[in-house]
Amino acid sequence: MDSPSIGIIGSGGMGRGIARRFATAGHVVTLHDHKPDAAIKVAEEAGNSVPGSVQAGSLADAMSSDVVVMAVWYPGTVRVALENVEALAGKIVVDIANPLDETFTALSVAPDSSAAEELAEALPDSTIVKAFNTVPAPTLYDGMLAGTPLDTFVSSDSETAKQVLLNLLARTGLRGIDAGKLANARLLERLTAFGIELGQRHGLGFEFGIKYLPDGPLTRG
Ligand SMILES: NC(=O)c1ccc[n+]([C@@H]2O[C@H](COP(=O)([O-])OP(=O)(O)OC[C@H]3O[C@@H](n4cnc5c(N)ncnc54)[C@H](OP(=O)(O)O)[C@@H]3O)[C@@H](O)[C@H]2O)c1
Repeated sequence: MDSPSIGIIGSGGMGRGIARRFATAGHVVTLHDHKPDAAIKVAEEAGNSVPGSVQAGSLADAMSSDVVVMAVWYPGTVRVALENVEALAGKIVVDIANPLDETFTALSVAPDSSAAEELAEALPDSTIVKAFNTVPAPTLYDGMLAGTPLDTFVSSDSETAKQVLLNLLARTGLRGIDAGKLANARLLERLTAFGIELGQRHGLGFEFGIKYLPDGPLTRG
């Protein structure tokens, strides 16, 4: 897929950061929020002084993109999906959700499932990719923390869709890491909950990152 178009649903902390990262790499991003003014404001800021651009758009505009990022909270992700099954058919849909419970350090989904797999069930004609969920929003806009570039783990049952996202991540400042099958989202979602617990324990709040070493490009063994 040459130059896939990117749509983002939700212009909060994550939508803003993901839009900025992709625009930094020269991509054109359509950002939708159910508060249109919020999306316009975030789009102007995130698309400012970067090679690509971020434009605010309708839900239909964002969902007509090749790659659609669901930057809303679980289970809202599943709700939006169920309302738009046809519009999202044939699309790569990126799940970034952490289905946290009220403690923010544990999950509200069963151990043998994940927000990503629930999204896949809701969208049988779309291809689901898990990404971005281990990256806290405050660090995402800058793409690095204390001078260290951030990693994002990318998992999917489709090697093609995973590669589309890994290609899009090139030049965003984030290192995309092939993290295997979609069910690995169970681990990735728990990893974030653990990261938040550590962040609370050590007084970091959300100013932390999860880094896989060695740094640099990783090749398949
Ligand atoms: N925050 C983090 O550090 C972080 C890190 C990794 C992953 N995540 C995941 O990223 C997702 C988004 O988190 P966030 O922190 O960016 O949330 P957020 O700041 O609350 O942003 C979500 C945005 O989407 C809007 N929205 C909600 N439902 C919508 C709909 N049906 N259509 C269009 N827009 C809608 C919200 O509007 P309202 O405010 O009116 O609801 C809000 O503006 C969550 O699944 C979260 O688990 C978050």
